[in-house]
Amino acid sequence: MESTPPTAAMAFRIRDYRPADFDRLWRIDQLCFPAGIAYTQMELSGFITRRNAITLVAELQCQTPTPDTPPIGGFVVAHPVRAKYGRILTLDILTEARRSGLATSLMMECEQRLRSLGCTDVYLETAVDNEPALRLYRKLGYEILRTLPEYYSSHALDAFQMGKRLR
Ligand SMILES: CC(C)(COP(=O)(O)OP(=O)(O)OC[C@H]1O[C@@H](n2cnc3c(N)ncnc32)[C@H](O)[C@@H]1OP(=O)(O)O)[C@@H](O)C(=O)NCCC(=O)NCCS
Repeated sequence: MESTPPTAAMAFRIRDYRPADFDRLWRIDQLCFPAGIAYTQMELSGFITRRNAITLVAELQCQTPTPDTPPIGGFVVAHPVRAKYGRILTLDILTEARRSGLATSLMMECEQRLRSLGCTDVYLETAVDNEPALRLYRKLGYEILRTLPEYYSSHALDAFQMGKRLR
């Protein structure tokens, strides 16, 4: 599957994850989240290799790919739970690739994949102070369902659980 939005400020395409992407994805996650919230390699690998996991990457079109650094600007990992609902496990966009629609495109394609697996709802968690993410998710139609106290325990930080019907 490939999709390239015609009006994006930064050209990119959405594609499926390949094992060669792993190190790059883990490094992006380290850059996107503080220590204690960013995933360990083992955690991220566990999510990506989970049965039926959906991992999509946004590949930038403006860089020359090299074997060491696939030109990836961001990624999303999700998984379906009993083919009933989907959970977004992480969504990460490099600082320099933000506000070009990468997260929106990744989320929309991910939701489509979850729908095709039979999921009727999708859920995610995000820190209560993550204003960019809250704005993004609201724009995509997610609503706050409840507050999860100290969800990010290493930072004594609450999270909102957000959700959306997949129609
Ligand atoms: C939150 C995040 C995923 C957004 O990615 P992105 O590719 O920049 O998002 P998009 O370009 O698709 O933005 C879509 C909309 O979200 C909102 N938005 C995104 N970033 C925003 C910001 N910094 N400030 C205000 N609104 C923002 C806007 O409404 C934006 O639309 P607009 O650009 O037309 O105004 C990115 O900032 C990120 O990776 N942050 C660190 C990791 C993280 O917080 N992940 C999500 C929580 S689990």
